[in-house]
Amino acid sequence: MSKTVLILPGDGIGPEIVAEAKKVLDAVNHQENLGIEYSHGKLGGASIDEYGVPLSDETLALARESDAILLGAVGGPKWDELDSAIRPEKGLLKIRSELELFANLRPAILYPQLADASTLKPEVVSGLDILIVRELTGGIYFGQPRGIRTLENGERQGYNTYVYAEHEIERIGRNAFEMARKRNKKVCSVDKANVLEATVLWREVMDRLSAEYPDVELSHMYVDNAAMQLVRAPKQFDVLVTGNMFGDILSDAAAMLTGSIGMLPSASLDKNGCGMYEPCHGSAPDIAGQGIANPLATILSVAMMLRYSLDMPAAAEQIETAVSKVLDQGLRTPDIYTDGMKKVSTSEMGDAVVAAL
Ligand code: NAI
Ligand code: MG
Repeated sequence: MSKTVLILPGDGIGPEIVAEAKKVLDAVNHQENLGIEYSHGKLGGASIDEYGVPLSDETLALARESDAILLGAVGGPKWDELDSAIRPEKGLLKIRSELELFANLRPAILYPQLADASTLKPEVVSGLDILIVRELTGGIYFGQPRGIRTLENGERQGYNTYVYAEHEIERIGRNAFEMARKRNKKVCSVDKANVLEATVLWREVMDRLSAEYPDVELSHMYVDNAAMQLVRAPKQFDVLVTGNMFGDILSDAAAMLTGSIGMLPSASLDKNGCGMYEPCHGSAPDIAGQGIANPLATILSVAMMLRYSLDMPAAAEQIETAVSKVLDQGLRTPDIYTDGMKKVSTSEMGDAVVAAL
């Protein structure tokens, strides 16, 4: 049965890196006869320019019909002055919540070839392979009420609401346990249960779920300690699971352990395994149009797509092996360049991955 992938290049370097990722997906698609078909849509600034909104009903309909979505990144200075309701990022938040993409998987893997790229000592990060599972459609980023109000004394007050219902905690918790089962069988649940009641419930639900996964070891950690432990001894972790805001912050910190944001893929999944795949980085307007962006995070996102949404794990592994091969060959975009290596452009990197397939 054929599968459909919706392509959303987005803004800035988005179209450049998505073009390379699609090149790689095309190559495995033909080579292995996977029967993958494409549809094309717009998101973010590209959509604002054409339709006046960051996510059109047409693109949302295409997203609902597809088995997986490949996204570049959205946003840029061109749209920064717009009212917050129609900014590019709103399109991203809307597609995540409309499709209920509640499980955001962000692996942080240090490639041995890039050991020099990390700012941490080699013994702290060498061999690092951790997975952050971040809840993506709830918590304080979506909680109501929210806003800026004027108090009786005339002073203004900003407020947001941190809420999690049991079912939201349970589904992301299950996802983390299932992921850990296929890895090193450890889940560390991160909360602030000493201060926030919403996360007392989080901890309780995780403990209850744990009984169903006796083969996985569950531990709990407060978020401030987790931030510290991530830079002190990141290899103590296997899977970290946490809410939307804590996950946002911790996953960026974890990303930097590996040296370059240009190497890190992500997946955002719904309960059926349909999902959206994108690099962890943004649209990098500072380097857009120069052909120097690193396409590997997006190419590795395609590998995650083949594994988690399209049920084609062998093809996923082929891509990951090919990426490792081009790094072995010494090919580097400027963001991961070190002395003695061969500097390549965005499209040369994509071509090299295709050749390595
Ligand atoms: P950014 O991730 O776009 O860039 C941060 C730095 O990393 C820049 O110096 C950039 O040149 C570099 N960089 C990023 N990706 C790279 C790649 N593939 N290869 C080489 N270098 C790379 O974050 P920034 O600058 O905070 O945001 C820029 C725009 O992107 C903003 O409009 C922001 O809202 C948007 N953004 C979008 C995201 C998304 O679509 N998921 C996520 C984060 C930011
Ligand atoms: Mg972030």
